[in-house]
Amino acid sequence: MIKNNLQMFTRGVKVLIKQDSGIASKLPLRFKAKIFLLCLSMLSASACADNKLTPNLEAGKQKSAICGQCHGIDGIAIIPIYPNLAGQKQGYTELQLMAFRSGQRINAAMTPHARNLTDQDIVDLAAYYASLDPRGKTKDEK
Ligand code: HEC
Repeated sequence: MIKNNLQMFTRGVKVLIKQDSGIASKLPLRFKAKIFLLCLSMLSASACADNKLTPNLEAGKQKSAICGQCHGIDGIAIIPIYPNLAGQKQGYTELQLMAFRSGQRINAAMTPHARNLTDQDIVDLAAYYASLDPRGKTKDEK
């Protein structure tokens, strides 16, 4: 989200600079300043709204297919040194995925799977795992 708006922001600035050599150089400075401020406000508005992505459980389930190889399809890992994810708090899972993605947390098996996750992927996956039963039971078995 921030990234998208940053791109829009820099694109806006580039357009302003480019236009400066053409017709836009005849635009009043006040007008240009307004565009600049508009870009700025878009940037800060998105920064505030950043953690308001809506989780999509169904998308999370689909995206978790590959994760299931290590963390179990039901979020319960079979290999003893791999962590369970089922029932984990959404916020914690999000933070860990962001930490792996940024390289702040490193693990040879896990890092490659977090590297290309988008913010939306992270929210969907975290919400999906939070929705699973930590005892590894499906809804019917409860
Ligand atoms: C090749 C095996 C493998 C795959 C595939 C994998 N992981 Fe992991 N994951 C691990 C291992 C191993 C750890 C523990 C890392 C450590 O010890 O720091 C881990 C840790 C995590 C953690 C941190 C758990 C905690 O309690 O701190 C999360 C969250 C996570 N993985 C989510 C995912 C998601 C989501 C996917 C799919 C996009 C995924 N993993 C795919 C092996 C894997």
